[in-house]
Amino acid sequence: MNVLVVWTTLIAIFKFSSALPSYPVVGLDLHLLFDNTAASPNGSADFDGKGASFDSGFLPTGPWVYDNIEYALPSEWGTSNDNVIADGQILYLDEPTFLHELHFLFAGDADSGSPVFFGSVFTLTFTDNSTQDVELITWNWWKWPVINNGVIHTPYHYESGGALKNENMTDIFQWSTATPSELAVTSITFPSIADDNRAHIFAMAISPSVTPAEASEPALAIRRARFTTLWEAVNGTRAQVVEVTVANMLPTRLLSAETSLLSKHVVSVSGSGVETLVPGIVNRLVPGDQVTVEVLVSGSRADGSAAVTIEDPNGDIVGTSSGWLTIPLVEYWTPDADILRTHETPSWWNRAKFGIFIHWGLYSVPAFAPPSSYAEWYDWYLHKDPGPSNPTWVYHLDKYGEDIVYDDFMVNFTASKFNASEWLDLIDDAGAKYFVLVTKHHDGFALWDTSTTNRTSVALGPKRDLVRELLETSKAEKPHLHRGTYLSLPEWFNPDYAKYGFDMWPGGLAHNAFNSSELEPYTGRLEINDYLVDLQLPQMLELVTTYESEIMWCDIGGPNKALEFASEFYNNALANDRQVTMNNRCGAVPDFETPEYSTFSAIQPRAWESSEGMDPFSYGLNLQTNDSQYKNATTIIHSLVDIISKNGNYLLDIGPTAEGEIIPIMQTNLLDTGRWLKYSGRCVYDTKFWFQGSQDTGSSPDVRFLTTPGTFCIVVLSQPEDGKIVIEKRLPLLPGDEMVLLGPDSDIAVAWSMDGASGQLTIDVVNMEIFEYAWAFEVRYKVE
Ligand SMILES: *[C@@H]1O[C@H](CO)[C@@H](O)[C@H](O)[C@H]1NC(C)=O
Ligand SMILES: *[C@@H]1O[C@H](CO)[C@@H](O)[C@H](O)[C@H]1NC(C)=O
Ligand SMILES: *[C@@H]1O[C@H](CO)[C@@H](O)[C@H](O)[C@H]1NC(C)=O
Ligand SMILES: *[C@@H]1O[C@H](CO)[C@@H](O)[C@H](O)[C@H]1NC(C)=O
Ligand SMILES: *[C@@H]1O[C@H](CO)[C@@H](O)[C@H](O)[C@H]1NC(C)=O
Ligand SMILES: *[C@@H]1O[C@H](CO)[C@@H](O)[C@H](O)[C@H]1NC(C)=O
Ligand SMILES: *[C@@H]1O[C@H](CO)[C@@H](O)[C@H](O)[C@H]1NC(C)=O
Ligand SMILES: *[C@@H]1O[C@H](CO)[C@@H](O)[C@H](O)[C@H]1NC(C)=O
Ligand SMILES: *[C@@H]1O[C@H](CO)[C@@H](O)[C@H](O)[C@H]1NC(C)=O
Ligand SMILES: *[C@@H]1O[C@H](CO)[C@@H](O)[C@H](O)[C@H]1NC(C)=O
Repeated sequence: MNVLVVWTTLIAIFKFSSALPSYPVVGLDLHLLFDNTAASPNGSADFDGKGASFDSGFLPTGPWVYDNIEYALPSEWGTSNDNVIADGQILYLDEPTFLHELHFLFAGDADSGSPVFFGSVFTLTFTDNSTQDVELITWNWWKWPVINNGVIHTPYHYESGGALKNENMTDIFQWSTATPSELAVTSITFPSIADDNRAHIFAMAISPSVTPAEASEPALAIRRARFTTLWEAVNGTRAQVVEVTVANMLPTRLLSAETSLLSKHVVSVSGSGVETLVPGIVNRLVPGDQVTVEVLVSGSRADGSAAVTIEDPNGDIVGTSSGWLTIPLVEYWTPDADILRTHETPSWWNRAKFGIFIHWGLYSVPAFAPPSSYAEWYDWYLHKDPGPSNPTWVYHLDKYGEDIVYDDFMVNFTASKFNASEWLDLIDDAGAKYFVLVTKHHDGFALWDTSTTNRTSVALGPKRDLVRELLETSKAEKPHLHRGTYLSLPEWFNPDYAKYGFDMWPGGLAHNAFNSSELEPYTGRLEINDYLVDLQLPQMLELVTTYESEIMWCDIGGPNKALEFASEFYNNALANDRQVTMNNRCGAVPDFETPEYSTFSAIQPRAWESSEGMDPFSYGLNLQTNDSQYKNATTIIHSLVDIISKNGNYLLDIGPTAEGEIIPIMQTNLLDTGRWLKYSGRCVYDTKFWFQGSQDTGSSPDVRFLTTPGTFCIVVLSQPEDGKIVIEKRLPLLPGDEMVLLGPDSDIAVAWSMDGASGQLTIDVVNMEIFEYAWAFEVRYKVE
């Protein structure tokens, strides 16, 4: 009896002192591969092969840590090569190594800052000579007019060997990715150069798996404990969200009940005044995996040091990890880029996954675009290279004649059948959780009552405040929907923009498309001094203060007052207990990236949202498009599931008519999507991407993975041929887990089996043809 007591006390002491090992990081030595100099103090370096380079004065030196990963940067820049241009080089590891995670510090040098990003495929070779690809989305080192936002910022770059400076923000980027750990990696092959777009790698590091001779328990480590700028109301106070990521460092091949966490473990954070109000819960953590939980805390201050504690269901401490930097919540946002950059997409946005974008304006009157063009660009296309070889010009001449100018469309932009409740019912029934209304496109016609101009739907056209109608009705009738507003920062033909004009947004009145010696009107202009101060910034502020928009979805970027705007936006939101966000097209300090009619092929841990029209080529309504050409529910659902499996949101656009109606085919496709989401939503909303990968190259049919604290989702995108789904990748499933197919009427239990040696999963299903579009299999963890 006595012995037993002593024994348990010993265990308790042992466990209490069981500090977890720190997360392993080993730098890879790239020096022998280095073949380019990116930076210098005077512009003598040549990063892009065309004489442009970084100014070393703004780059950190020596060991540099980001997101708990240390990268080897030069102790001095400009004296020797400092990066490798990826071109098929092979990097051999010192010895075959099971990899848990791979880390990159990189930048692309595509010509003239375009494209925004491109894919670069690294290939891992394993001990049996099999290979797996890892695609690095290579962000370009700078971009204009939208900015590319990395982790190391410099205010400009040199051009022409230092003779010139380009004052666009110029960056270095970072990416960490899970790596397969069924086998040890022997080498990493770099991508070859394609299309002149070169990926420069400054530093790489690996996080090796832990490979004990015998594994009888999980090998836990804390990947990160990040004090975010997010909060949730807990008992009337703002509790800070601390994002804690717990890793099981064993290689995936050791997956078993013994080597996994499989009961309810409680994650808390404490120290330096920090107290946990609501802990995070981990129900399942298998070898090779990471789980991120949110811990709600109070009391954090600047530069304190907190510890993470993991307790098992008995309250026994399984592990602790200390030394995590505490950062308090921001109480006041100053117009300072370094502070505003810490802002991030709110939890509601991260959970919402699916939004509806609405392009509605004067361009909805002609509702025309030549093939593969945006209909909302009618005004620009009409005036760009006017003449018989311009299809928009020809169409305009045929349909309206040469006496009708763009502003004449105001009369026919009637909104006569617009009913905000009907739109909102449709958005809600489509299963979207937020919407973003275009409040002013590049043509400068605003859909709300702005003090800055009379070029509005209130003074002209329908004489209605359409933004107010939609946003206020939404707040009243659909309080669960979040409300966003698109705003174009530049305008094509605003006389006051001429001072700032660039590229396709020159400002200044348009020349009549049929008589170039005549200038077209810009109806509704009010006398102002400065476009940015008197129009752009006030318009942005009106939308978020008076109209309480929660998403500022800027377009184009370019000259801006984004820092002033963001600080007011965030302070106003804070004062009103709202959590809000803005995209990467406001010209500075973005919360999220916005690929357009494109998506990422790999998980991007940083927030992003992909947008596209239901129309194959246009956001605004294009009456040339046939019903069958619109994305149907199958296409929409597949895009949605693919995007969210890689950590994105999907913003699907519709284009109403000038009268304010949404055409039947668009309604049908939205409603079909909503029907599927109604029963499959548990595998969509409030899910997280799976650390180990969004999909499985080996499986048949095509599948995507998603996780929640208590479940793992396998969404199948095509109907399997023979009633069987086979997935090669080892998933975090253990005996006793229950699998159901989410169905329209009820959940349907399905049988599954996993081959222990290979990890191959087989799901037996029948009657899949009674469903449509996609099939969401939900695995409910057996929690011990
Ligand atoms: C520019 O800087 C480099 C690296 O520090 C140095 O070698 C070179 O002499 C400098 N060139 C000029 C013109 O100052
Ligand atoms: C892998 O390929 C190398 C080079 O082709 C060869 O020498 C080696 O035997 C191969 N190993 C296996 C396990 O097939
Ligand atoms: C940004 O780059 C563009 C394109 O090269 C250039 O026209 C513009 O002047 C640059 N902006 C600044 C502030 O230097
Ligand atoms: C909130 O307040 C209630 C009542 O005082 C208390 O029971 C509960 O534990 C509090 N919750 C948190 C997370 O502090
Ligand atoms: C406006 O509508 C009228 C009546 O439908 C039509 O005759 C006219 O062509 C339209 N004009 C424009 C500019 O759309
Ligand atoms: C708008 O639509 C709602 C819901 O369909 C309906 O109840 C209401 O009467 C409509 N309003 C008008 C002005 O037609
Ligand atoms: C702007 O429009 C309003 C009506 O909405 C009108 O009262 C006002 O006179 C207009 N201002 C100018 C300068 O035209
Ligand atoms: C073109 O516009 C100018 C200026 O308004 C006018 O003098 C001229 O007659 C117009 N040309 C034609 C062919 O209408
Ligand atoms: C739309 O359908 C019609 C009839 O099937 C066809 O002639 C036309 O080419 C289609 N339009 C497009 C843009 O595909
Ligand atoms: C939906 O669209 C896809 C892609 O265009 C097409 O293959 C499929 O047949 C369509 N489904 C239906 C039911 O029309």
